[in-house]
Amino acid sequence: MADITSKAIRIDRHGGPEELKLVDVTVGEPGSGQIRIRHKAIGLNFIDVYQRSGLYPFPMPLQLGMEASGVVEAVGEGVTHLAVGDRAAYASQPPGSYSEVRVMPAKTVCKLPDAISFETGAAMMLKGLTAQYLLKKTQPQGGLQPGDHLLFHAAAGGVGLIACQWARAMGLQLIGTAGSDAKCALARENGAAHAINYTTEDFLARVKEITGGAGVKVVYDSIGKDTFEKSLDCLKPLGLLASFGNASGPVAPFAPGILGNKGSLYITRATLFTHMATRESTQAMADDLFAVVESGKVKIHIDQTYPLSQVQQAHRDLEARKTTGCTILTL
Ligand SMILES: NC(=O)c1ccc[n+]([C@@H]2O[C@H](COP(=O)([O-])OP(=O)(O)OC[C@H]3O[C@@H](n4cnc5c(N)ncnc54)[C@H](OP(=O)(O)O)[C@@H]3O)[C@@H](O)[C@H]2O)c1
Repeated sequence: MADITSKAIRIDRHGGPEELKLVDVTVGEPGSGQIRIRHKAIGLNFIDVYQRSGLYPFPMPLQLGMEASGVVEAVGEGVTHLAVGDRAAYASQPPGSYSEVRVMPAKTVCKLPDAISFETGAAMMLKGLTAQYLLKKTQPQGGLQPGDHLLFHAAAGGVGLIACQWARAMGLQLIGTAGSDAKCALARENGAAHAINYTTEDFLARVKEITGGAGVKVVYDSIGKDTFEKSLDCLKPLGLLASFGNASGPVAPFAPGILGNKGSLYITRATLFTHMATRESTQAMADDLFAVVESGKVKIHIDQTYPLSQVQQAHRDLEARKTTGCTILTL
């Protein structure tokens, strides 16, 4: 069959949003273990910013994007869980979802339930699977029980608004932080038991106040550099810091001794793709996400939509903290 042409967003070198270029690329047939998928909608994620800027370096040129939904158009040898014509959605490596059509590994692509729209599917896979593995699989010693307090930074963001709702469904007392009073209100409307504006309030003092001086069992910290030290101080003895992002820059190197001084704390640098190492683990996490979304306990907020050709503006707005909830790119 003749090759197909697709519009795609590519960078030829790391840098700012201006490096995102709309180009034509050629797409072939899927090989063994691969599918070709025609996208209906594309998810925007903060990891796309790290890959564009070079914080997470990649060989050039690089087609960006880690999340999308669409229809399976061709299936390579050995792929049994997907068929031509299936509605599907994914969070996946390698990058390349900022495109009309692509060939990619089938392993992390899941069939999308009929009740979930393409737009929602594109918005929720990477962010929702992240909330899933954080709240369900990245827990402190002894686990999380209903009524437990946890601290979740950037609670009005893409991952954050999903985590607020899911934590409420689990009976957890999520204390969210966010960069404005309006974002704090949004986090509370979506299930945060408390919300702290960390640009105007001292989040450590407020966490101590809310927990009667005890602190929280776990902090989920995607801000990195700006919040690391205070996040540790919010923990109870034996508490867990789950560091999972660098929105303000990467955490500086530190001596493990500080974890002892602050109460035998645990720390993990968690990444989604460790949990998505197999088809089975990916599908189990996706089934959990689909169930909570279909139940209505977690609603996916698509608060910004840009055409794929406007992706530079989408990156600018995400980095400028102008967005809430999820953002999708349309075709
Ligand atoms: N490790 C993993 O498995 C994994 C997977 C998915 C996402 N993540 C991480 O989770 C975080 C959330 O991802 P997302 O895609 O849903 O993004 P997002 O939360 O919608 O956007 C990032 C938010 O971070 C906050 N922020 C604080 N300081 C910032 C700064 N200096 N520059 C920019 N933003 C800043 C902003 O919210 P406020 O204005 O409210 O502060 C901003 O809206 C990101 O750090 C991402 O890298 C990690």
